[in-house]
Amino acid sequence: MCGIIGCVGCGDRTLDTLMHGLSKLEYRGYDSAGVALVGDGSLQVEKKAGELDELRAALEDRDLSGTVGIGHTRWSTHGPPTDANAHPHRDCTNNVAVVHNGIIENYQELRDELEDGGHEFDSETDTEVVPHLIEAGLESGLDAEDAFRKAIARLDGSFAIACVIAGTKSVFVARNDSPLVLGIDDGTTYLASDVPAFRKYTDKVVYLEDGEFARLDTDGWRVSTVEGETVEKSVETVEFDAEDTGKSGYEHFMLKEIHEQPRALRQCLQGRVDELGGTVTLEELGDLELERVHLVAAGTSYHAAAYGAQLLQADGVPAQAFFSHEYASSPPPAEDAIVIGVSQSGETADTLAATREARRRGAETMALTNTVGSTMARECDHVCYIRSGPEIGVAATKTFAGQQTALNLLTLATTPGTADRDIIAELRDLPSNVQQILDESRAEGVADELIDSDAYFFIGRGLNYPVALEGALKMKEITYKHAEGFAAGELKHGPLALVTENTPVFATVVGDGEMARKTIGNVKEVEARDAPVVAVTDGHSDVERYADHVLEIPETNPRTAAMLANVQLQLVSYHTAAKLGRSIDKPRNLAKSVTVE
Ligand code: F6R
Repeated sequence: MCGIIGCVGCGDRTLDTLMHGLSKLEYRGYDSAGVALVGDGSLQVEKKAGELDELRAALEDRDLSGTVGIGHTRWSTHGPPTDANAHPHRDCTNNVAVVHNGIIENYQELRDELEDGGHEFDSETDTEVVPHLIEAGLESGLDAEDAFRKAIARLDGSFAIACVIAGTKSVFVARNDSPLVLGIDDGTTYLASDVPAFRKYTDKVVYLEDGEFARLDTDGWRVSTVEGETVEKSVETVEFDAEDTGKSGYEHFMLKEIHEQPRALRQCLQGRVDELGGTVTLEELGDLELERVHLVAAGTSYHAAAYGAQLLQADGVPAQAFFSHEYASSPPPAEDAIVIGVSQSGETADTLAATREARRRGAETMALTNTVGSTMARECDHVCYIRSGPEIGVAATKTFAGQQTALNLLTLATTPGTADRDIIAELRDLPSNVQQILDESRAEGVADELIDSDAYFFIGRGLNYPVALEGALKMKEITYKHAEGFAAGELKHGPLALVTENTPVFATVVGDGEMARKTIGNVKEVEARDAPVVAVTDGHSDVERYADHVLEIPETNPRTAAMLANVQLQLVSYHTAAKLGRSIDKPRNLAKSVTVE
């Protein structure tokens, strides 16, 4: 949800550094992009609507130089994606340039006040009030830093803001409710919404907290409070390589990340599972025991949360999954529940609002996240990392598998007496079973056969219901085709009216028990309406008799089977989108990290 980059001390490579950073942040938004540089002379800005290539093309005709710079890639909130609405935004004198991620809630009132004072605006954005406020501060005689601080003090809402001002060799930074991290290197300082933007240059990072300011200049960097007092920050080292954020020869990040799942799952399991002893230990949680759990999450993470709630319930822990935006506005009675925010990014505004509301009401909180140092990880009482590595494709894939795996581990580790050698063995085999699917899947052929369908439906029962929801979400996101996930038993209560010979139904059928038999009953119902049936199955039942296509998964237990079925569905969506020529890594209207409510 908008990406910010900035750097000081890069000399001749300032523009290249900004453009490299933006290419790594495009997953956060890709409606428009822009840069601002300050050198010995004046401020220079270039910005363009469209993806980063539009900006690259525009820069070919410009000779932009400077030793200090900021850049932005946008996911529109206020105003459509036009050149004028692209960041950076400037003041009337063209001396101040600002990039912003978040929403300034009181912008209209500030804009009215500034316009009454003679300021002229070029865009429809909320952001543009900031450079004008800074301009007003400078005109009143404040120095650059004080003018910046005074402007920030006027803002309500969420923001990560970076600013350059002609005549200074500094980048001024402020954070409230939107992520910002500094990258520290000898003589060079970077700032970004996320580490991959500068990971190529340094692995040393400083995470900014809400309410903190930073000033980056050629002498180094300083973080301070609203009152201007220096804050001592610890410099941390990130663990992933710059290579982890590249495509490694795959056509799309999404495909690369689907194929990275075996490795991601091994990382998640590593050092946490003692197969001989039959125990699971999550060191970061100590001897925490879960007695009642509320899981809060959005999108794909909500599907993982719904899967996790079922695991916990099966082990005797009352657990419920909630959409985080619903939970934040009307939380159910928490009683003694621990509230677990499930979030890949750890920055999703809806989920942060839910965990904050839970804390406000005195509940213990936990972040189950991929992102070390994320806001949720830092704010919650406990954190459990899924260790999937950076995920760049906007559609979540390997992190969903990582969340499901971590939720299995969490259940086994925190519900005493439930660790079961069979489940542990199945978890151990999970990475190789995923690999087998990746090696042998017939998903591309199925995608090909069904490419002209009007809509795609996904059904499953129990643990396969969240997987049906996730299968449909992936299909919608990257193919732009209508897709829905249903609890298999619910189909006959209404959705069956949608089923035709042109709406394939993907049914996950695992084992040959009661659930499988009932789901096969639902398969027969759609088959009778001429819908093509794709069975995702371990081959235990006779569902193949009623299916037009079969996507096999290795034999395992129901917990891991649901995860394996999901891999087949990921591949079907990916190949369908590829055949339709969609923008797979950057689907229209979406952004990976949604930092507004
Ligand atoms: C879908 C997807 C989104 C996210 C959702 C929550 O592929 O990626 O639905 O799952 O925006 O994001 P996190 O997990 O970062 O809280």
